[in-house]
Amino acid sequence: MSIHQPTIIFIFGGSGDLAYRKLIPALYNLYLDQYLPKQFLIVGIGRSRYSQADYADHVKKGVQEFSRRKEGIEETWKDFAQHIDYCPLDLTDVKGYQSLGERIKKEEEAWSARANVIFYLSVAPQLTEPIVQHLHEAGLTADPHRSRMVFEKPFGHDLQSATALNTLLGQLFKEEQIYRIDHYLGKETVQNILAFRFANGLFEPTWNNHYIDHVQITAAESVTVGDRGGYYEGAGALRDMVQNHMLQLLCMIAMEPPVSFDADEIRNKKLDVLKAIRRFKKTDVHRHAVRGQYSSGWMKGKELKGYRQEKGVKPTSATETFVALKLYVDNWRWKGVPFYIRTGKGMVEKSTLITIDFKSAPDYAFPPEAAETWRSNRLTISIQPQMDIRLRFQAKQPGPQMRLLPVDMTFNYSDSNGKDHPEAYETLLLDVIEGDATLFMRGDQVEAAWQVICPIQELWAAKPPVDFPNYKPGTWGPEDAEALIARDGHNWASLPPEPNDSLD
Ligand code: BG6
Repeated sequence: MSIHQPTIIFIFGGSGDLAYRKLIPALYNLYLDQYLPKQFLIVGIGRSRYSQADYADHVKKGVQEFSRRKEGIEETWKDFAQHIDYCPLDLTDVKGYQSLGERIKKEEEAWSARANVIFYLSVAPQLTEPIVQHLHEAGLTADPHRSRMVFEKPFGHDLQSATALNTLLGQLFKEEQIYRIDHYLGKETVQNILAFRFANGLFEPTWNNHYIDHVQITAAESVTVGDRGGYYEGAGALRDMVQNHMLQLLCMIAMEPPVSFDADEIRNKKLDVLKAIRRFKKTDVHRHAVRGQYSSGWMKGKELKGYRQEKGVKPTSATETFVALKLYVDNWRWKGVPFYIRTGKGMVEKSTLITIDFKSAPDYAFPPEAAETWRSNRLTISIQPQMDIRLRFQAKQPGPQMRLLPVDMTFNYSDSNGKDHPEAYETLLLDVIEGDATLFMRGDQVEAAWQVICPIQELWAAKPPVDFPNYKPGTWGPEDAEALIARDGHNWASLPPEPNDSLD
């Protein structure tokens, strides 16, 4: 049962896609699990003109379609809907914000209690500044213990704009009031990396450049950009996925053990990693970074448009829908260990995967035939849609001769915990309600992440690609990405179709 303070959540962008697909379904599931305070109110804010009943009906459809739990909605919805309201507002008009203050007052009087107030910004980036200014001017965020500001990505467009935004927020709010979302950090399997690394004695002694040969992080998406062209055209894969999600995954793998799970301790350790990532000189970018853009083609019997034909995209667009990078973390633990990362749209499958390849054992003692299928140990952490951890090791093939076979030992999340896991947004929203910022990005982390990709952004902007589009949908991306890793004698890892078929 919840022990939380009465809470009001204002969602700017309340009639938008994120509220519909993720935020309201997440709040609904928190409600079902009795994590929400008894006294809570969700207020959608937007330009559309909904009545309370129409808005509740609208978001109910989102819950019916996207909630992880769909049974019994008819029975539970009536009560949940009483905690939902809608407020049409011109976000750029300061006067409207007074009405939010009045709303807070009215609820507090009805509850006979002070409420925590959460302002969740899921809006176009150009609206962030007027909203935060007006909230501040209306005095709605003055108490840092009771008011919280949540920001969806993109957080800035480059280092300069992110720094400017951080400066503005720093003038208006205390850092502990600010929650910058990276929804990957709310995923169960991502949080499990901390448990796996720091609650087990077995791996830590080998978690360094003495034993680890290289690390790979893949976040492949089979979906194409579709109707998000308007947003994506100004973003590209580097900003959309690498600056945030991919670098955060890298931090989870590379960070030093924290001395506590205090929010700042964890974030300090991750910041150390970001600072240690080698900054590319512009002249080195071509050797460490590959960009791609998907063409038209076929995937699973469906004909797909090329990126340049998507709505809102220029026919000559240079925006990348695929990125592969080779990064180094220049500290004692990781000196010389390459981190290969790749992400893209329109790829062969949806798969987010981290692999840690350990250095190979010497094979001198085995007869050459035994060593034909020699493979190094590989730890595979599957983030999604598969949720498991596998350790590949060599075993003897049954039979009279000494022949080897790589096999996997697998821990499957679903086997031990069932399939019903909280979604990332449930975890993150609950953390905001509880005032726990561990899984959120601090301002300095965001800036350090922009610093990593800055030289790549600048060089790519200055040198438009000559070979776009350069990969077909339903593939693993452009050939240059294969070459990037093949030059070092490796292949990109993907999940084998069968648990024990793990040859790469
Ligand atoms: C978002 C990106 O942050 O993450 C999207 O803007 C991307 O382009 C999405 O599709 C991927 O999230 P997930 O949870 O489906 O891997």
